[in-house]
Amino acid sequence: MSDSEVARTDGRTGVRPELLELIACPVCCGGLTPSGAEGAQGAVDELICRSCTRVFAVREGVPILLDAPSKRERQTAELYSNLWEKFASRRHRPSGGYRAPATSHLELLRMAAGWDLIEGTVGIDAGCGPGDSVLEVADRHPDITVVGVDLADGVLSRATAAARRPNAHLVQGNLLAIPLTIGRFDFVYSFGVLHHTAAPFAAFERLLRCLRPGGRITVFVYKDFSDLWVKRALLAPVTWARRWSVRLPPSLLQWLAWGGAPLVYGLLTLPARVLARLGATTLARHIPYGTFPSLRAVASSLQDRFGAPFEHRFSAADLWGWVKATGLTEARVVDCFKFGFSGLVLAGRKATAVPAP
Ligand SMILES: C[S@@+](CC[C@H](N)C(=O)[O-])C[C@H]1O[C@@H](n2cnc3c(N)ncnc32)[C@H](O)[C@@H]1O
Ligand SMILES: [Zn+2]
Repeated sequence: MSDSEVARTDGRTGVRPELLELIACPVCCGGLTPSGAEGAQGAVDELICRSCTRVFAVREGVPILLDAPSKRERQTAELYSNLWEKFASRRHRPSGGYRAPATSHLELLRMAAGWDLIEGTVGIDAGCGPGDSVLEVADRHPDITVVGVDLADGVLSRATAAARRPNAHLVQGNLLAIPLTIGRFDFVYSFGVLHHTAAPFAAFERLLRCLRPGGRITVFVYKDFSDLWVKRALLAPVTWARRWSVRLPPSLLQWLAWGGAPLVYGLLTLPARVLARLGATTLARHIPYGTFPSLRAVASSLQDRFGAPFEHRFSAADLWGWVKATGLTEARVVDCFKFGFSGLVLAGRKATAVPAP
């Protein structure tokens, strides 16, 4: 399909009719409808909430369903918008997979959960970044519809690519005021996002609300290393440095990340590769950035680690607490070390009955 044929739209908003059934007002959860106002190109470029009458813009076919983000959420959006803007150019996109048993984020979620992330007919990529994984899932499963939601402008960078696919949609929104239809989705997956929100458990609960009873959820979050004192000690100076680094403008942070990346790559990534070649894979996997494929990937990750205003960390016991509080069934909490990642995956199914208080 050519760019001029992009997507089947409702002819007015550039938002496809099937997406209108899946999105909702972030403020009152009401249904959204084209507003009827004509944009500069003669196309309607706004959606209106049928319940509270709030109006939301549509850019390049992507509904912008944000409601008054806080200052730190705006900083979060600015940081990742800067990062994903770079990714939009192939030249700056990290190439190659992780040098680990799980070579990508989607693969890690699948391996750790022990099940396919996809089931039913419609799902959510929560905090999809620029939306590459949305496109990948849509291509791999032509009968499944995936909606990617993210706070940052990155979703706009893949707007045309998503519009070319009948089963891929992108929306700009906040997981804490999630602009998706309650109880409508069969699955949700999320990599590396909840810990960057102001309230991770609240975001998790809101994702569950979008699932039908029995729907599948799989999320990856940072671990707090409460079980590994050496890593906890190594993390302490990073946490200390974040006190000031999160206040830097994203463009300056980007320069610092690119300046520091060769050091990290030379002192950590390359020695870890040598150790892995010599057969010391467990030791190699303990080395931070040891599995990273390239200098670019290290630089992007440094920008993320030192720039994200919110960075929460969890123990397995914390996540089991989430399971208990939400009544998740078939739940598992998996340490991702054996797959080459420092973090925890929580997977389960939404309860069919509300858990007792
Ligand atoms: C580390 S990136 C992960 C992106 C993607 N999931 C991946 O696997 O590459 C974190 C993403 O979470 C998004 N994010 C942070 N807070 C959010 C929120 N409250 N609502 C929606 N997205 C959020 C950021 O904009 C960013 O794109
Ligand atoms: Zn509303």
